This record gives sequence, C-alpha cells and structure tokens, in this order.
Amino acid sequence: MQCYYKAVFRPCNKLNCIAYLRAMAKEVVLSGIRPTGFLHLGNYFGAMRNYVRMQDEYNCYFFVANWHSLTTHPDTKELRNSVNRVVAENIACGLDPEKVALYVQSDVPEIAELYLYLNTMAYKGELEKTTTFKEKVRLNPDNVNAGLLTYPVLMAADILIHRAVKVPVGKDQEQHLEMARNFADRFNHRYGNVLPLPQAFNYGGELVKILSLDGNGKMSKSENQMNTLYLADTDELIGKKIMKAKTDQGPSTPNSAKPDYIENLFTLMRLVSGADVVGKFEDDFNASSEGHCIIRYGDMKKQLAADMIEFIKPIRAKAADIQENKDLLHKITRQGAEKARASASETLKLVRSAIGMNES
Ligand code: ADP
Ligand code: TRP
Repeated sequence: MQCYYKAVFRPCNKLNCIAYLRAMAKEVVLSGIRPTGFLHLGNYFGAMRNYVRMQDEYNCYFFVANWHSLTTHPDTKELRNSVNRVVAENIACGLDPEKVALYVQSDVPEIAELYLYLNTMAYKGELEKTTTFKEKVRLNPDNVNAGLLTYPVLMAADILIHRAVKVPVGKDQEQHLEMARNFADRFNHRYGNVLPLPQAFNYGGELVKILSLDGNGKMSKSENQMNTLYLADTDELIGKKIMKAKTDQGPSTPNSAKPDYIENLFTLMRLVSGADVVGKFEDDFNASSEGHCIIRYGDMKKQLAADMIEFIKPIRAKAADIQENKDLLHKITRQGAEKARASASETLKLVRSAIGMNES
C-alpha cells in the first residue's frame, strides 16, 4: 500500500508513530454537506457519487454540516427536516450506514473543541480573502458574522478531527481544502506532528463543477432554483427545467469550442446518458456551422430530459421512503455519531497532549 506518512509527516516522534500505524490501516475519508435545502445534481456528481464509490475501499466519515448552515441560514424552523432529508438522500444514492459513519455534525462536540484550537492558527487577512466569504458578504451584507468568517476553520476541524487525508468535494471547495492544509501544517510546526494534510479528491482527478441550467454560476441548493435539478424534483419538473435550459442558434464553424452552458448540457448528458447517445450529439455539434446547423438542441434536451428522469426517479422514491421512517433515521445517525466520536476523541487526545492541554 502507498504510505502517505512520508509525504505529510516530518521525522518521527511518538505521536506520529501512532499516526503511522493508522496510515497502515485503511486511509481515512471525510466529507460533509450543508442542510440548507434540497440536494441537487451538483451535490450528487461533485460529492455523493464519490462517497458511494469510496465506501468499500476507505474508512469513511460522512456528515451533515448543520453548524455550518447556521452561518448563512439563521432560521432553523426547517433545519431538522433538512438534516433528515440529506441523510435520506445520501442513503438513497447508495451510502451504506453499516459501512460508513453517517452522522450529524452537532452530535460530535469534539469538533467544536478542535475548531477552537485551529482558530488560533487562522489569520484574519486570509479568512477575509476567501472567495466563498467574499461572495457571501456580497449576497448578504447584513449578516457578516464571525462564524461566516471562520467557516473554513470549522471545515478544517471537521476534516482533521478524524485525521482524514482524502476529501471528496466539488471544485468550489478547493480553496477551503488548501486552507485546511495550511492550518494543519501550522499546528504541526507549532505543537508537533499530529495532523496529516488532507487533499480534495475525485475519481479521475479533475474536480467536478455542474453549472446552473442558465449558465449563470454553479447549481446550488439555495439559489437559482428553477435552473437547478434536484434529486427530489418530479418527472414533470425535470422535463420542464431541462427544456428551458439556455442554448443558442448553434456553432458558427465546425469543431468550435462550446460555450459554458452548452458544455454543461453535454456534461450532464455524459453523466446520465449512454456513450452512443452522447457521441451522436457530439458529432452533430462538431459538424455544424453557420447556415448548416445539424445539432438540434431541442432534440438533445428531450433526450437528456428522458435520461435524467430515469436517473433521478429511483433515488427520489427511495429517499422519500427513508425520510418517512424517523426511527430508522434516528438509529442511523445515533450509530454514526458513536463511530465518529470514537475517532474524534482519539484525535483530540493527541491534540491536547501536543498542545500541553492535558487533563489535570
Ligand atoms: P450547495 O453549494 O449546493 O449549498 P454544499 O455547499 O452543501 O452545496 O456542497 C456539498 C457538496 O456538493 C460539496 O462537496 C460541493 O463541492 C458539492 N457541490 C455543490 N454544488 C456543486 C456543483 N454545482 N458542482 C459540483 N459540485 C458541487
Ligand atoms: N463547506 C462544504 C460545502 O459548502 C461543506 C462542508 C463542511 C464540508 N465541512 C466539510 C465538506 C468538511 C468537506 C469536508 O460544500
């Protein structure tokens, strides 16, 4: 097995020997999703699809980031429902709660203590420069709270509390991962090698970004809802949204580069349609030019809608069933929190001892 120990740790001391032993076991994987609305195709292809593939190979921790959602969604009336829906949708997509730890962030208080220590590793200037922070300030200038500023620190604590090394996320989270590495590295320099440096992960290397159907920004839970495809959308709604997706009059020269919004339709098609279907529309696109337009976006969208409906239908049905079963959801998240707390308290022991914050 490839050992990440040499790449991320400095010369050996007692603490990193423990880490070394862990590295010899299965690598640790962690990821989280905020319960700020319905899950969509960006969440699925950027994150959940990888979770499902990773669950057999790695020691996996997946969680619902309900503390994070408070930084932008202070109204908590719908929070419990949203948490349940995210858990149900993850299982409906193929996560097996017996194989992974599937838990809710607020059930693991150890994360909050690590967040506190890591806050002393994070500088105001770098937090203010974070792209997601600047974007959220722009969208909501009246709610620039300290939790929003230190969002990347809490995210680093989520990851480092299990000493995870692989983090399956979409492209929008790349900068947060870089920050998590910086905080861990500073901690290790200051107090000794306890925390391995995590990396964003996607099978195939490239991180995924699914654009909104009008080509304006990424698909997202809480914005631009008529241009986002949700795993809970009805067949009719899926068809309607795709048929309204932005296109144009077609390419002006053969083999031209595709505009973002057209590339996005092809990306979606590659994800849910057969290779022959995609190939046909690719060929039509490449053979088209001004006055000789072979590609018919209307037909392409009809085909994409039909394939997307087939893709989403079973996930929607299974998630709805699970969501009804509150006892099952409770049992799954209890069990997940137990597994997560066992791992988290192990890390916290090492962290406290490295800092010199031992029990008196
Ligand atoms: P949202 O941005 O929709 O609120 P989250 O921030 O909770 O979703 O993201 C959960 C996961 O889904 C993250 O790993 C994130 O990178 C991924 N993700 C979210 N939107 C997209 C998208 N449009 N394309 C690819 N991945 C995405
Ligand atoms: N910030 C992530 C997002 O918006 C959600 C998240 C919180 C997360 N903590 C995490 C993702 C830890 C990966 C690892 O998508």
